Amino acid sequence: MTFSIVVAIDEKRGIGKSGGLPWRLSRDMQRFKDITLPCTKPGSRNVVVMGRKTWESLPAKFRPLPGRLNIVISSRSNMILPDGVLCASSLRLALEIVQKIQDVADVFVIGGGMLFAEAIKLDACQGLYVTHIDGDFLCDVFFPQISENFKIVNKSDLLEEQGLRFYFCDYKKRGPISDR
Ligand SMILES: NC(=O)c1ccc[n+]([C@@H]2O[C@H](COP(=O)([O-])OP(=O)(O)OC[C@H]3O[C@@H](n4cnc5c(N)ncnc54)[C@H](OP(=O)(O)O)[C@@H]3O)[C@@H](O)[C@H]2O)c1
Repeated sequence: MTFSIVVAIDEKRGIGKSGGLPWRLSRDMQRFKDITLPCTKPGSRNVVVMGRKTWESLPAKFRPLPGRLNIVISSRSNMILPDGVLCASSLRLALEIVQKIQDVADVFVIGGGMLFAEAIKLDACQGLYVTHIDGDFLCDVFFPQISENFKIVNKSDLLEEQGLRFYFCDYKKRGPISDR
């Protein structure tokens, strides 16, 4: 079971501050939806996997993310989650659960920092959808270094919204040496 990461990062690879996002970019939110919602398998839905703190950071009216199977990673056995939202104690376990479900298509790990740190190291992580935002937002949560194992396969023009400049970049895991 492979998955991709979806993330927005600043120049210092910052992704979050004081438990939330340091920016609000509607084009980035639209891209997030465009990546995670459309489903490649008819009759199926995609999966979004997130850490407990990212789940808690979502405004109540936006969670669970609609049209997608939401899985929250937490060691807490007493988490109260809405019907249909799954909880797993690790990312590996979440992927095992997903493998057993029939009607799922693509899997996306959507944060936060702690979950990304584990996810990006796994062989199953085959792609990164990254929004690169200009500037240093003095974040307190960071995305790991993007290693040479990932190559850029798509890059947007520089975009601007609310005085912030950013671009979208898709990375794909390199194949065997012969593919590099
Ligand atoms: N810029 C972006 O694209 C983006 C995306 C998502 C989130 N964020 C930001 O990131 C911040 C939250 O990130 P965070 O690192 O503080 O928290 P997080 O990764 O969202 O959640 C951390 C919690 O999730 C569980 N968890 C995470 N990884 C785990 C693992 N590998 N194994 C077992 N349990 C795991 C643990 O829950 P328990 O303590 O319950 O065991 C842990 O305390 C917020 O500021 C949020 O706004 C940014």
